[in-house]
Amino acid sequence: MTYTSRIDLSEHVRKNASTLLQARLSDALDLEAQAKQAHWNVKGPHFLQLHQLFDSVHDEIEQFVDLLAERITTLGHVADGRVTTTAAASSLYGYPLEASGGEAHLKALAGSLGEFGKLVRTAIGEAEEIGDADTADLFTQISRETDKQLWFVEAHLQSH
Ligand SMILES: [Fe+2]
Repeated sequence: MTYTSRIDLSEHVRKNASTLLQARLSDALDLEAQAKQAHWNVKGPHFLQLHQLFDSVHDEIEQFVDLLAERITTLGHVADGRVTTTAAASSLYGYPLEASGGEAHLKALAGSLGEFGKLVRTAIGEAEEIGDADTADLFTQISRETDKQLWFVEAHLQSH
């Protein structure tokens, strides 16, 4: 469904940008749930620090979700945040239910953050090709912050 708008982007551009945004919205919703999965289930000697780290990662991703969904609606399309859509459309690896210790959760979340970051970075160029510089800028913002969150998570796995 497309809503009419006074926005000065063609229907074609708005539709293609929305399709691109929707794909990354499903990924971001999956990633958001994965960060909570880590937040709730991590165990071990660094429990409290990692419990808090994973919640702060979750909070950042929650902002990505809102940015992506609201760009879709700004463009006159419907943002689909249904869990059934997320489950069917997410490009990310499934989160390992058996993860327990800090290292297992750090590696699982780092893997998903790295995969998401790669997809979002690719989306920057795709949005430029579509002809929507603002969506490309939004992806750039999310890409930069995803890289930072990946650093926060990976720093716990690096000793030198
Ligand atoms: Fe909590």
